Amino acid sequence: MIKLENVTKRFANGFTAVDDVTLEIQEGEFVVLIGPSGCGKTTTMKMINRLIDPTAGRILIEGTDISKLDPIQLRRRIGYVIQEVGLLPHMTVAENIALVPRLQKWPRAKQMQRVEELLNMVGLDPETSLQKYPRQLSGGQRQRVGVARALAVDPPIMLMDEPFGALDPITREQMQDEFIKLQQRVQKTIVFVTHDMDEALKFADRIAILDRGRIVQCDTPRAILHNPANNFVRDFVGTDHTLKQLSLIKVKDAMIENISTVRLEDSIHNVRQLFATGYRSIVVVDEQGMVRGYINREDAEKASASQRVSEVMVTPISTIAHDKSLKEALSKMIRNDAGYLAVVNEQSKLVGIITSSCLHKVVGEPYLDSGIAV
Ligand SMILES: Nc1ncnc2c1ncn2[C@@H]1O[C@H](COP(=O)(O)OP(=O)(O)O)[C@@H](O)[C@H]1O
Ligand SMILES: [Mg+2]
Repeated sequence: MIKLENVTKRFANGFTAVDDVTLEIQEGEFVVLIGPSGCGKTTTMKMINRLIDPTAGRILIEGTDISKLDPIQLRRRIGYVIQEVGLLPHMTVAENIALVPRLQKWPRAKQMQRVEELLNMVGLDPETSLQKYPRQLSGGQRQRVGVARALAVDPPIMLMDEPFGALDPITREQMQDEFIKLQQRVQKTIVFVTHDMDEALKFADRIAILDRGRIVQCDTPRAILHNPANNFVRDFVGTDHTLKQLSLIKVKDAMIENISTVRLEDSIHNVRQLFATGYRSIVVVDEQGMVRGYINREDAEKASASQRVSEVMVTPISTIAHDKSLKEALSKMIRNDAGYLAVVNEQSKLVGIITSSCLHKVVGEPYLDSGIAV
């Protein structure tokens, strides 16, 4: 989809900001460019949509050398979210978003329809935000408008330059989560710039790490965590390696699936037989497979044999959605002081459990991209 071949940018003052960069980005791929300030990230992005032309090398989009394309035509195929959002202050939200559709002379009704659709897509209420000016919005809202504007003409490619960089940590995390969902729906080819490794790990199919204008390593997040190419990458990845690893793995890929459960109406007598096989705690479900609580061995031993599980069980039980990361699972286990978490799917049905040994297995041994054995 996008191919950079030995791309170099030397500015008029002789400074080489991008130095012989070669990178191929597949259709639908999410590639993150990361590196310290001044390493050439923004310059690289600007060369992809021809705001800057390379001094040497070529950039191809769908096989065509972009130096042969009209820059205006090119930019219509590329949504660009710039580093400082870059909304035009004298234009309303609606006018900002409709900027490119207007230049393309879309009929007015179609422009307005698209603006509303985009505002909904990025989680803003069209009614209250359409006529506002950028200064009347919070940082997070401005950022959403910036994303909406970049998506306006539904370009196949998105270039996003530190789009969440200026937000406070809570808003940033919220925007990141929403953006992951949005990307699952719109499926763009994305080049995303950040200087935040956690953000890179959250999004990237591949991460290209830049140092002084050169790509020092370009690989999957896992490969970068496991096999940093050199000390620069190792330092950049940071020391909380273990937590970062946990953030890459989904609960459903590490959980224990074949677990015994008991029903609300089961008798304690039957449950004791199950505890005799060595369990200390068992998840309680109802007829629909919904998680209702858990029962401890000591409680089952103390109760009378004729009692029902529903009378002896402990509620609530700590649960986690199966598409969350192991880092979130760990955090929840610590916060709730829970020995394990019941894992639930989209329908809130029990699909497994996560125990601390699942976490240990993941960080304690090398594992392959193909999956994790629990
Ligand atoms: N027009 C320019 N002339 C000279 N140097 C520039 C120009 N634009 C950027 N630079 C320098 O090029 C380097 C890379 O800049 P940039 O790509 O913006 O870095 P990043 O986005 O990674 O922080 C920086 O050292 C910057 O000062
Ligand atoms: Mg930059």
